[in-house]
Amino acid sequence: MTTPILIRDLAQVASPAGSDAPLRGASLRDITVVDDAFVLCDERRIAAVGRMRDLEPIAGDVEELDGRGLSAIPGLVDCHTHACFAGDRVEEFSLRAGGASYEELHARGGGILSTVRATREASGDELAEALAKHVGWMRQAGTTTFEAKSGYGLDHDTELAQLRAIANAGGIPTWLGAHSVPPEFADGGADAYVDFLVGDVLPDAAQLAESADVFLERGAFDAIQAGRYLTACREAGLELRLHGDQFTESGAIPLAIELRARSVDHLEATGEEGVAALAESEVTGVLLPASALFLGRPMPPGRALVDAGAAVALATDFNPGSAFCESLPLVCSLAATQLKIAPEEALSACTVNAAHVLGRADRKGRLAPGYDADVVLVAADDWRHLAYHLGGPVVHTVIAGGQIAWRRPA
Ligand code: NIG
Ligand code: FE
Repeated sequence: MTTPILIRDLAQVASPAGSDAPLRGASLRDITVVDDAFVLCDERRIAAVGRMRDLEPIAGDVEELDGRGLSAIPGLVDCHTHACFAGDRVEEFSLRAGGASYEELHARGGGILSTVRATREASGDELAEALAKHVGWMRQAGTTTFEAKSGYGLDHDTELAQLRAIANAGGIPTWLGAHSVPPEFADGGADAYVDFLVGDVLPDAAQLAESADVFLERGAFDAIQAGRYLTACREAGLELRLHGDQFTESGAIPLAIELRARSVDHLEATGEEGVAALAESEVTGVLLPASALFLGRPMPPGRALVDAGAAVALATDFNPGSAFCESLPLVCSLAATQLKIAPEEALSACTVNAAHVLGRADRKGRLAPGYDADVVLVAADDWRHLAYHLGGPVVHTVIAGGQIAWRRPA
């Protein structure tokens, strides 16, 4: 049993209004803000949110937190990360900073494949330790729910080891077997590798993962290979995600719509037709501006997608190569400054809509009675400092599942 937590005298409590998901269009901006407020977490759920003047006496033990000068928002939901990896790619980062391109490094066997080598060499304990370190960083940045993908094993045992490590760390596992073609399939190429994934890995991966994902891109998997892999994954009971339109429009949006995927993620190269098609569909577009920034690439058309009525989510894409960034507050700042997405829209995008992508919008992403007791206290009396304070220490306290998960040292 956990002691109930009462956060009192908060300058603001801000939460996406209503209970719909995903949010689109004008409803993305609809944030309910309560001034001079409290949040009561009872066990693992939110029990009440309201004005201080309406706070009723609470019977029994309660842990009180002083919210003066702070704002409460829902715990942030990171619906797209590659947090389970060994080693780092600081060497590659230096090369890229000096002019080498991400795709060139990938083609030369660097990039994703260098993390594959490090992850294959790591023991189960080493992988768990590396993931725990990354999860700690995410938590300090206000993330209380995270998805993480495999995709750095690319063989049966290491892919499964990644999925197990992610579940053990409290994450939501996505099987990204089709991330890159590993060197041992150089002869047969992507087709032979997809045969192997579907025949040898999928039956076991489907027991551990909730979703499957594919990197649909030149130099990785084409739309036919991606369709074959995803169709088999859907038949095995997995939800579908796609990495699409990162560098080129190679058919990811039509495929995502055809297969009724939960999301298509990246979209830096998406043009007008793709925006219109996505807006008319049930597929959520996941925007990853930290990845575009980190690679010095064009930003995804965030404003156009929102204006066209698409469901959009925001995520970090945290990984060692294209986005060594675990901070959703920073992603909200990038959304506001680079994508022309207002802080209100950004908050909905990395709470309710991200929870929707993960199939959890009925209990994650809002501060309202009955939702999971996941709360972030922002270190400002206006919650919009979340996006406004670029790279600043905006996260003051993180409550996850009704327990204090992290507090900024005094
Ligand atoms: O989403 N683009 C494909 N996959 C990842 C990058 C993985 C890596 O570079 O290690 C992404 O950007
Ligand atoms: Fe990614």
